[in-house]
Amino acid sequence: MELIKDFIFGGFPCRAAFYNKEELFPSDTALFVADGNTASLITRSGDAPEIILTPGEAHKQWSAIDRILQLAMNKGLARDSVICGAGGGVVTDMTAFAGSLYMRGCRVILIPTSLLAMVDAALGGKTGIDAGVYKNMIGSFYPAEEVRICPEILQSLPEQEYWAGMGEVLKTAILGDWEMMDLIRNNKEAVKARDPEILKELIRRCILVKGNLVEEDLREKGRRAYLNLGHTFGHALEAVSEFHWAHGLAVVWGMGKALDASVALGLADAPWAEEVKALFRDFGYTLDADESPDAMLQAMQMDKKKKGGRLRYIIPAGPQDIRIEFLEPDFVLEILKK
Ligand SMILES: NC(=O)c1ccc[n+]([C@@H]2O[C@H](COP(=O)([O-])OP(=O)(O)OC[C@H]3O[C@@H](n4cnc5c(N)ncnc54)[C@H](O)[C@@H]3O)[C@@H](O)[C@H]2O)c1
Repeated sequence: MELIKDFIFGGFPCRAAFYNKEELFPSDTALFVADGNTASLITRSGDAPEIILTPGEAHKQWSAIDRILQLAMNKGLARDSVICGAGGGVVTDMTAFAGSLYMRGCRVILIPTSLLAMVDAALGGKTGIDAGVYKNMIGSFYPAEEVRICPEILQSLPEQEYWAGMGEVLKTAILGDWEMMDLIRNNKEAVKARDPEILKELIRRCILVKGNLVEEDLREKGRRAYLNLGHTFGHALEAVSEFHWAHGLAVVWGMGKALDASVALGLADAPWAEEVKALFRDFGYTLDADESPDAMLQAMQMDKKKKGGRLRYIIPAGPQDIRIEFLEPDFVLEILKK
């Protein structure tokens, strides 16, 4: 085990640490949750009961939570029993949600297996399921007591999922660790080749940025909202495309829109914004979408990040310089049409 950091999220201790592949599985696991793609990645010991979920966002539904809770009850798990979830953000969000409900909260250990879950979803206590097309509508704040990370496991991640996760890495670099952007820029080929050393360093830095923001603001009353950079635009694209756009790829597109908005508002320097967008394109990200701007604007009206009826946008004004702006619908429509 190699400690990244011991955090306290709203009074809950949460350890983030690197583990070797052979040591990833917690020996005191009482119930193991994974999906059909991730279960075989984890070397298990003992005879803990397990639930293997159908992979994919479409299955991030109450029926999965019900299965976990039923099995926990049937097996007589106690409040101090460990439910261990190993998978991408869908599995880690649902395992932690079920754990938050079982006996009003049992022990939860997460093993993120996608890059997105390692750098974002598994850390920070947001848990939940979707309701129809509306993502994460039902959930809780319930940090896992430990997040165990093994970058080696990323080698089997499908290409699109890898780049979806790298989108969140780029987001984290812009909002909280500009040195990491230089590291990425100077190691483009290693990043493309999934070099384990560079990945480990990027994951460590992302965990520190996110963890520190969550420590100061678990319930997103303040600066935690910076982590939503690219998300208000991105969620609208995901919804209107009926989730044909993967979350992380939609977030990168959304960051492109947030940069455009920032320049139009007179906040970011145009050359800086173009330089960041050029790096996105260089990695193969698409900053153009065919979806209807009007439909996307409408989808934003359902966004959870509305405050007092107005929509909040996270706007990058420069490296590690983030503003929260309330934008008029007409202005947003112009940006969407660009
Ligand atoms: N809780 C949070 O703070 C937070 C933050 C960001 C995203 N999320 C949530 O995370 C989810 C997205 O997570 P995701 O992108 O990991 O999606 P995912 O969980 O659907 O995983 C993507 C796909 O990759 C597969 N997979 C995962 N690891 C693998 C590996 N090592 N090898 C081979 N296949 C592997 C999965 O089975 C799945 O098919 C969304 O539901 C989103 O709402 C939550």
